[in-house]
Amino acid sequence: ADVMYHHNFRPYYHYTPQANWMNDPNGMVYFDGKYHLFYQYYPNGTTWGPMHWAHTVSTDLFHWEDQGIKLYPDELGYIFSGSAVADLNNTAGFKTGSETPLVAIFTHHQNITGRQVQSLAYSNDKGDTWAKYENNPVLDNPGIADFRDPKVIWHEATQRWIMVLAVYDHIRIYSSPDLKAWELESEFGKNEGYHGGVWECPDLFPLKDEQGTEKWVMLVSLGGNEYSEPNGGSATQYFIGEFDGSSFVSENDEILWADYGIDNYAGVTWSNIPETDGRRLFIGWMSNWAYANVVPESGWRSGMTVPREIKLKKRQDNRYILHFSPVDELNTLVDPQKTIAPETPANQIHVDYHEIIAGGSYQVEMEIIPAEIDQFTISLGNELEDLTISYSTTDGEFTIDRSNSGHVTFNNLFMREIRCDYQATGATLPLTLLVDQNSVELFINQGEKVMTALFFPRYNYKFLRLDGNTQSKFVKSLTIKALKKSMIR
Ligand code: FRU
Repeated sequence: ADVMYHHNFRPYYHYTPQANWMNDPNGMVYFDGKYHLFYQYYPNGTTWGPMHWAHTVSTDLFHWEDQGIKLYPDELGYIFSGSAVADLNNTAGFKTGSETPLVAIFTHHQNITGRQVQSLAYSNDKGDTWAKYENNPVLDNPGIADFRDPKVIWHEATQRWIMVLAVYDHIRIYSSPDLKAWELESEFGKNEGYHGGVWECPDLFPLKDEQGTEKWVMLVSLGGNEYSEPNGGSATQYFIGEFDGSSFVSENDEILWADYGIDNYAGVTWSNIPETDGRRLFIGWMSNWAYANVVPESGWRSGMTVPREIKLKKRQDNRYILHFSPVDELNTLVDPQKTIAPETPANQIHVDYHEIIAGGSYQVEMEIIPAEIDQFTISLGNELEDLTISYSTTDGEFTIDRSNSGHVTFNNLFMREIRCDYQATGATLPLTLLVDQNSVELFINQGEKVMTALFFPRYNYKFLRLDGNTQSKFVKSLTIKALKKSMIR
């Protein structure tokens, strides 16, 4: 048959659980040459349920080896989101042998009362086996319903641990000498940022720009509703400012989002990346609470975004912003397979998935000349369905339209156009588009803005093409990088 029914939405180069439900990334720590990734996991079904931490490890952020479930619910409750650190100086005293202890700091969620407290677990064998601390919790609940998602960092200047915690509509910052005794230092955010929903999953870290200027970055995820910014449902905002070891001051004068697409939530960064590497690496859950439980995957639900490197950049107006780009390791998975000759008229750009290995999973690198065009569209699809990515230079806006992309009627928000303001300023505009079976991730101007979106074709997509209505030579270059054979199952 010419039209193939699409029944496998499992991506090739995005992390997915082998079976059952996954949400937030948790406990990301780099240790002994391995990137550890834990995640919110429900092993008995494909919708959210009593939360566990499942574990997977990688040396390159793309080939993952699953390690099974490491933290199970107990009498204090479900194991909600949190972080992990390498306790290099054994400050918590958990060390029993010669290995540096890994310590996880997570939220215990009492399922009947909803009470949320912070607890510890530790490993003395590089993350293979974990024990919960016998005196949990280490941070009790002060009588606030939403009190969760601890992210802990070692603060070099004051030689102590700092925890950021999401507390309903703000972030609380705590300090500790030993990960066990926590003292409240300050609060942030009641009057800052966007408040169209509960605050969740914070992160706090220093970052230097190319000139060596250091700023502190706060990430905050937002459990929004259908009408929340920027495009409804779940989203992650960020603040850039100063942190003196006790309180954080934001210098934002606008709301900034880690992703203007709709399927990147609860993302945080890896701890313990060596100074010599210098990278700040991020991963997010590639879904949205508005429809995560009902997307038409079967046997398993949800994947992670591609791991992204965060860079601090000074804009032309002297404001600092973040760029999020795919980690360099992605280049080891792909080969340039098809290059469009410079200045090919856009209406002749049509890439058949048969021409590339693993059609449906590839990367597009392109440069466009904004002055040459008012509006253009990149479509992925087949004869019946398509997902379109458009840019209007006149409106200064990117849009992703997935209303005709396949299965869409399971949720109203899923059908709505996704928008992102962007005014091109340079002579050329670089775009990177990652496509992987059921997702697109668009990186505008080297990650200055990002749009991540899922889609669920009913029939296999067959092509990528540029807007057919234009003779214009606005495409300066375009290369399709397809997956290497070794990446294909
Ligand atoms: C964010 C979140 C967290 C919580 C976890 C529960 O997606 O709601 O705030 O810890 O998911 O699974």
